[in-house]
Amino acid sequence: MTGIKPAVRPARPFFSSGPCAKRPGWTPEGLNGALLGRSHRSKPGKAKLKDAIERTRAMLRIPADYKVAIVPASDTGAVEMAMWSLLGPLPVDVFAWESFGEDWVTDTVKQLKLKDTQVFKADYGALPDLHQANPHHDTVFLWNGTTSGVRVPDGNWIAADRRGITICDATSAAFAMDLPWDRLDATTFSWQKVLGGEAAHGMLVLSPNAVARLEAYTPHWPMPKIFRMTKGGKLVEGIFEGETINTPSMLALEDYLDALGWAESAGGLDALMARADRNLGVLAAWVKTSGWADFLAGDTRIRSNTSVCLKIVDPWFAALDADRKAEAAKRLASLLEKEGVALDIGAYRSAPPGLRIWCGATVDAADLEALTPWLDWAWSQVKAG
Ligand SMILES: Cc1ncc(COP(=O)(O)O)c(C=O)c1O
Repeated sequence: MTGIKPAVRPARPFFSSGPCAKRPGWTPEGLNGALLGRSHRSKPGKAKLKDAIERTRAMLRIPADYKVAIVPASDTGAVEMAMWSLLGPLPVDVFAWESFGEDWVTDTVKQLKLKDTQVFKADYGALPDLHQANPHHDTVFLWNGTTSGVRVPDGNWIAADRRGITICDATSAAFAMDLPWDRLDATTFSWQKVLGGEAAHGMLVLSPNAVARLEAYTPHWPMPKIFRMTKGGKLVEGIFEGETINTPSMLALEDYLDALGWAESAGGLDALMARADRNLGVLAAWVKTSGWADFLAGDTRIRSNTSVCLKIVDPWFAALDADRKAEAAKRLASLLEKEGVALDIGAYRSAPPGLRIWCGATVDAADLEALTPWLDWAWSQVKAG
């Protein structure tokens, strides 16, 4: 550890967990082809929306018989649309191990007021026992807990012949982790995450079983227009072909198409996953030698390769009271921000004090390599100060 500032700064100090870094080489000129001032229901408007759907399907290897829609209100909109439309007929098992999972617990228990609900929880850094999921129940879970950096290791705990449907919030996993589509019935993500797109729109992927549920079951609660996917007991197919329920941002859409184009030219899903893995590797190598930082997720099998959450293990820090700990961690992140070497890397407000460094595909490993000496520098300043 040293008090001397490192000589090299990350070229792109963007390590926010959402909105995430734009793709390497992004410029506003990439949006020149946006269909601005035109109707999204015009022929070229609908063609662009359909193109986004079909290229997403191809990139994520979504089966041909699954439905893919662009929906309002980002990932939250997509998750709640799925929950409000699908939940009710069966008991529900909800898994939560950080704040976003807690949000879906609140939706299930306090908003939808589903009585027959089991909640399985774990603390920050751990995963609940996923094998508690009952295949005769519906299941709600996250593929990656963005605020704890803990992910689901695989889909083997989900029964292939389940009766219930699975609702999976995969917003910080899609495009960085392999998703087993045969185990996922309603999967959601947003443009602003791994591909570094803009906020406002989410995507919802439905399996044939989820579609069957939608057509067979009508919830007894009111259904806002922006959640409505069926009419007269039939799926509104247009929604899954680019006829969005309400008006999308054609500028955000163009940006998503630009991100997809970059991802395709970078080598597709395998290359995106490899980029995130490599980024995690840079931090893992540094953690080993840092002496003061460690992963919140102790078990490598469940460690996220996108939202990498670090705790502070320095004995000096451990001896501080909770307020001082929070203060020290805040100072660490703000020193790095002030130097312009890392923006937005403080741990999430309800997570243990520490750092959260986004490692998704749009981040360059070289920038993380340049960042790590700065982490040591900033920590030495916090301790000295
Ligand atoms: C796991 C998870 N779910 C939901 C959200 C909310 O996403 P959005 O703001 O795109 O609705 C986030 C955002 O960070 C997230 O990480």
